[in-house]
Amino acid sequence: MASSSVNLEDVPSESLMSELLRRMKCATKPDKRLILIGPPGSGKGTQSPIIKDEYCLCHLATGDMLRAAVAAKTPLGLQAKEAMDKGGLVSDDLVVGIIDEAIKNPSCQKGFILDGFPRTVGQAEKLDEMLGKQGVKIDKVLDFAIDDAILEERITGRWIHPSSGRTYHTKFAPPKVPGVDDVTGEPLIQRKDDTAAVLKSRLEAFHKQTEPVIEYYSKKGVVAKLHAEKPPKEVTEEVKKVLS
Ligand code: AP5
Repeated sequence: MASSSVNLEDVPSESLMSELLRRMKCATKPDKRLILIGPPGSGKGTQSPIIKDEYCLCHLATGDMLRAAVAAKTPLGLQAKEAMDKGGLVSDDLVVGIIDEAIKNPSCQKGFILDGFPRTVGQAEKLDEMLGKQGVKIDKVLDFAIDDAILEERITGRWIHPSSGRTYHTKFAPPKVPGVDDVTGEPLIQRKDDTAAVLKSRLEAFHKQTEPVIEYYSKKGVVAKLHAEKPPKEVTEEVKKVLS
């Protein structure tokens, strides 16, 4: 037996039962391949875990994957760091490679949520090529439309629990205890690029390089525009309507 295999007798019955129920629920869900697109702070990372649980998809956030590589100082992380610190984009080849690997993961069997990818038309074309080889395509692109003026407050007030990806906001989604994760009690951190100055560059990159991706998918008739300036629960309701 492989040393990494789990002895089911050691797993608590409640955990086994909840996993069984989850799998039964997932078996009834249709496959979905989604892209979440929007400027920094528009709420992609906030809505992703909700959509993931509802439709049994995997959540692939290129920003999170790149930050993990930077933290681990892998060759990929070292290449990405400079562009990320300045609020620019890392190279297409680098992120396409990450996604190509990640979508083959068994957790993506029912489909995926791409959060922060594709960010250039070049990335979108490569993604379509990749999916075309598997005989599948993107079902929906959720466009988190929002005015730039709202974003600075959202970005500079954001706090993150790095290991789970849980996101808080000092004003809009405060933790029970300031600076501490509600579930684990571990400290929260702020992202290095979550400053007003770096946000400017990130927004420039969004308007120049990523907005054309919305146009690219609009021509394919798969874009649904959301009112991302609304409170989180109202945005979730819009998402559910679009995906039902
Ligand atoms: P990435 O990590 O993808 O950052 P981003 O796209 O800038 O998006 P954010 O994570 O900042 O925003 P979000 O929309 O997820 O907002 P959130 O839900 O947290 O990318 C970082 C960098 O990596 C890039 O700059 C680039 O260098 C590189 N990179 C990544 N992908 C790449 C690619 N494909 N190609 C090239 N380079 C790439 O919400 C923000 C805050 O607001 C939170 O505090 C939240 O609580 C609050 N909030 C959320 N929704 C609401 C609401 N409805 N009302 C009030 N508050 C809300």
